[in-house]
Amino acid sequence: MRVSVIGLGNMGRAMAERLSAHGFELSVWNRSPVRAEGLAAAVRGSAAEAAGECDVVLTSLANDDAVRDVVLGSGAVLEALAPDAVHAGTSTISTGLARELAERHAERGRAYVSAPVLGRPDAAASGQLYVVAGGDARALARCRPVFESIGQRTFELPDAPQANLAKVIVNFQLAGTLELLGEVFALAEKGGLAPTRALEILSGTLLGSPAVEGYGRRIVEGRFEPAGFAMPLGLKDLRLALRLGDELNVPLPAGEVVQDHMQAALAAGLGQLDWSGLTRIVRRDAGLT
Ligand SMILES: NC(=O)c1ccc[n+]([C@@H]2O[C@H](COP(=O)([O-])OP(=O)(O)OC[C@H]3O[C@@H](n4cnc5c(N)ncnc54)[C@H](OP(=O)(O)O)[C@@H]3O)[C@@H](O)[C@H]2O)c1
Repeated sequence: MRVSVIGLGNMGRAMAERLSAHGFELSVWNRSPVRAEGLAAAVRGSAAEAAGECDVVLTSLANDDAVRDVVLGSGAVLEALAPDAVHAGTSTISTGLARELAERHAERGRAYVSAPVLGRPDAAASGQLYVVAGGDARALARCRPVFESIGQRTFELPDAPQANLAKVIVNFQLAGTLELLGEVFALAEKGGLAPTRALEILSGTLLGSPAVEGYGRRIVEGRFEPAGFAMPLGLKDLRLALRLGDELNVPLPAGEVVQDHMQAALAAGLGQLDWSGLTRIVRRDAGLT
């Protein structure tokens, strides 16, 4: 099976490595060619060139603007897709853009699946992602070998916007969890309970989960670099949720608080940190260094 990966950032590069190790015939493109160095893949000079020669095209791009430009605009991925190829968009984008992509592909007689992924680059590299895939059943079936290579489980949904809605709500929950972990550890520390003990109790009792355990450890250890998921991308995802709340008349006051803290982190020059670094702002506000 021939697969193209377009966008070799933290996630795209890790997924490409996994697919290459699994024997997929791989071609890749990235705006900055340096990200393709050392990859066992055919490196193409344009997104359209990579997209035109494969069965499944995976896009992994930062945000709505990048996806719009590479797929519908100057990158011309949609124009280049072969008639029987499927485009699987793994980026975290708005439900509105997912709907538009599905429509534009359908108008050209091409198949589009929104397939946002849950999990960090290390999970991608070891095939432990969760894939939330929305599209028509035939297109989903054609992508299955690819999803099974990069992920441990795929949740299938009937259309593209629902898949992106699912991704946005999961990241909204995660952002809230980061904020609360920051607040809980600040409270523990100022009260004289070591954050490591607090984490042990949280994760060993009712709140144990990969998110509390994994992010909790990162926060307690102050290990925010290198960023697996960078702060500006975290803020982008939070804003996708806030925008949906606005459109659907769902007040999201907790999200507003997290947005303020992420914005304060950017203003404080912490933009290069992992998004869990927003807890530095929580600590600062609590008078902790
Ligand atoms: N990291 C995670 O833990 C994680 C987990 C799940 C989902 N995601 C989602 O996956 C997507 C990629 O995330 P990431 O962490 O890999 O981000 P990243 O490391 O910042 O990479 C972003 C990618 O987008 C490309 N890009 C940005 N703007 C572009 C433009 N205008 N035209 C062409 N290419 C452009 C970048 O190219 P250059 O190299 O040239 O800058 C790079 O390949 C995002 O939607 C993110 O929300 C990330």
